[in-house]
Amino acid sequence: MNATAAVAAAVVPAAGRGERLGPGAPKALRELGGVPLLVHAVRALARSRAVGLVVVAAPADGVAEVVGLLDSHGLDGKDVRVVAGGATRQESVRLGLAAIPSEVEIVLVHDAARPLVPVEVVDAVAAAVRAGAEAVVPAVPLADTVKRVESNPGLPEPVLDTPDRATLRAVQTPQGFRRETLAEVHARALAEEARGGLPPVTDDAGLVERFGGRVVVVPGHEEAFKVTRPLDLVLAEAVLARRRASDGY
Ligand code: CTP
Ligand code: MG
Repeated sequence: MNATAAVAAAVVPAAGRGERLGPGAPKALRELGGVPLLVHAVRALARSRAVGLVVVAAPADGVAEVVGLLDSHGLDGKDVRVVAGGATRQESVRLGLAAIPSEVEIVLVHDAARPLVPVEVVDAVAAAVRAGAEAVVPAVPLADTVKRVESNPGLPEPVLDTPDRATLRAVQTPQGFRRETLAEVHARALAEEARGGLPPVTDDAGLVERFGGRVVVVPGHEEAFKVTRPLDLVLAEAVLARRRASDGY
């Protein structure tokens, strides 16, 4: 294995609109502590010695803006590239992956919407892939009990069953992969989509599972939560303020 192969590359899907966050700029460009979510997320990856290159999949009409933003924030001298993202998260990841040099053997995929992931999580995911896993997801136990329902929005929904909470995990990013595995499942998903097949997945490990691969879970972190709704931004501001007060973050 040469030096480039040993270092992971990261794809950061950042092309979503952030509809659940409400009106405003695309979510990845919304600010947390005066800095765009995307910049926090890229910095979190760049802080890891396991990561040598970061490829951002930006909103298709915002590539130049994102390049400018990343240029104006110091990023530890890491190689950061920007490509146009797609209409779904899955497509954005596929487009980002296509921009990674072929000799890179380990790829992490990290949501721009998870700005506060601790570097320990990034390192642990990369280390698990380096140790031989083909797909690794960080995850945390659930606080709430979960019920499966017959979907019936706006009306009382009949409960089907209650999975045993002890066996459930809420998964986060970065998710880590052998590059070959990730490229192959994305190519297969694209081929199936073209045949009018299965709908896109909401995480990359889901594609590996779909095609029979083996995914393992490592501990995630409560601060790696995804900014999805307005309250998440309030929580993120509080976490950032606590970090800045305690360690000059
Ligand atoms: N994403 C992307 N391309 C898309 C859709 C989503 O790159 N076409 C990215 C988002 O930018 C985000 C990550 O995938 O970093 C996780 O998606 P999500 O939290 O659903 O973000 P949005 O799709 O932006 O939000 P919403 O679903 O509320 O519109
Ligand atoms: Mg979305």
